Amino acid sequence: PPGALKISVIGCGYLGAVHAASMAELGHEVVGVEVDVEKAEALAAGRVPFFEPGFEELLQRSLASGRLSFSPHMKAAAGAAVHFLCVGTPQRRGEYAADLTYVEAATASLLDVLGPGELVVGKSTVPVGTAARLAELVAERVPEAALAWNPEFLREGFAVQDTLHPDRLVYGVADSAAGGAAGAGAPPVDAEALLDRVYAPIVADRTPKVVTDYATAEMVKTAANSFLATKISFINAMAELCEATGADVKQLADAIGHDDRIGRKFLNAGLGFGGGCLPKDIRAFMARAGELGADQALTFLREVDNINMRRRIRMVELARQVCDDSLLGKRIAVLGAAFKPDSDDIRDSPALNVAAQLQLQGANVRVTDPQALPNVRRQWAQLDCVDTPEEAAEGADAVLLLTEWRQYKELDPAAFGSVVKTRRVLDGRNALDREAWEAAGWTYRALGRRNV
Ligand code: UDX
Repeated sequence: PPGALKISVIGCGYLGAVHAASMAELGHEVVGVEVDVEKAEALAAGRVPFFEPGFEELLQRSLASGRLSFSPHMKAAAGAAVHFLCVGTPQRRGEYAADLTYVEAATASLLDVLGPGELVVGKSTVPVGTAARLAELVAERVPEAALAWNPEFLREGFAVQDTLHPDRLVYGVADSAAGGAAGAGAPPVDAEALLDRVYAPIVADRTPKVVTDYATAEMVKTAANSFLATKISFINAMAELCEATGADVKQLADAIGHDDRIGRKFLNAGLGFGGGCLPKDIRAFMARAGELGADQALTFLREVDNINMRRRIRMVELARQVCDDSLLGKRIAVLGAAFKPDSDDIRDSPALNVAAQLQLQGANVRVTDPQALPNVRRQWAQLDCVDTPEEAAEGADAVLLLTEWRQYKELDPAAFGSVVKTRRVLDGRNALDREAWEAAGWTYRALGRRNV
């Protein structure tokens, strides 16, 4: 199609794979570079190495169009007009700071093939200051190339929708007033115009666009995730008070959420946030603020993290309470292992953290999940995994709903009650229909609600 570009996507994990296929869907000719040969081969064969609704269809459609290919070699990226950096920035082992090893390695290897007039576009979540540093490296090696920062806000479970129909586009570009990273004259590549071409259909959709300097673009991402984490921990702090006062956090959230300055989204109290982004991003943000001498500005995030981690401990306590004050030898069914529904991601999963603590306290735990079990079996060999909620609940002293998959919300409490030993259910996500479960003879307990 007119305006189509040759694009490379470096790093085809979750973010990169979805981005690559989406760019092909927009009409561009895309090569995904993935150093993990097996992963590159799987993607090239149309197999998705993770669970994401709608993604397999998109991947196969893009491959069939002939506009998408994958390669384990960086030289496949040569000649692309735009190179997207989509490698991961995990939390460093034993530290709060982000590990930039992959970003640095990918940039170094990209610089070997980068040509004049080309644009490097960072999408990874990085500590503020990274883009400016990478822009210098680009300017040193290929003065006629440029770098932009274009953060990605996709949610797991909605990755395709979020990529093709984002709420906003953010372009962090070189400060041309300062003469660009190269330090002289106009920037060598018009990054904004080129990104507009990449995202032409999205721009034409009147998607809001914010063009900023590098530091702002990097911060937009960490600020957004910090806000979301804070919103969740706020309602979970209210849940603690509700437990102390006998108030009901779900009604509280509904009532304050009607104020559209507050909004009901992300006010679901329960086990709190996990996953590969929110926990590590707020920690990396605190670490970076410390390096910049601005740690006071983010001390509240430590509290956000603490409130979040306390929910898991509270869940274990609640389980012990309903099991007559001892978990020893009790059979506990854990429904849900992924960090949230519609995902097989178990990184920093609150559900697995709770399951492991219950087991440590002597409970006999059985975990089930519609998608995440292969990952659980690989990484949490000590946990007993079963395929269905009925198997998990067989003879159970208590059932814990820890990830609110639709199929668990739709369980029939009467029929399900016939497999357990004692009808006790703990709703870690405030997702079950309390009245229906109580009507079927279950003792219902939840975080942040009256537990009598
Ligand atoms: C998040 C951001 O939403 C996304 O914009 C960013 O690009 C990556 O990080 P994701 O990690 O996929 O996305 O999940 P999200 O839907 O934000 O949920 C994060 C965690 O918060 C989950 O564990 C979820 O269960 C929890 N959560 C969410 C709550 O506990 N309560 C809520 O009200 C909402």
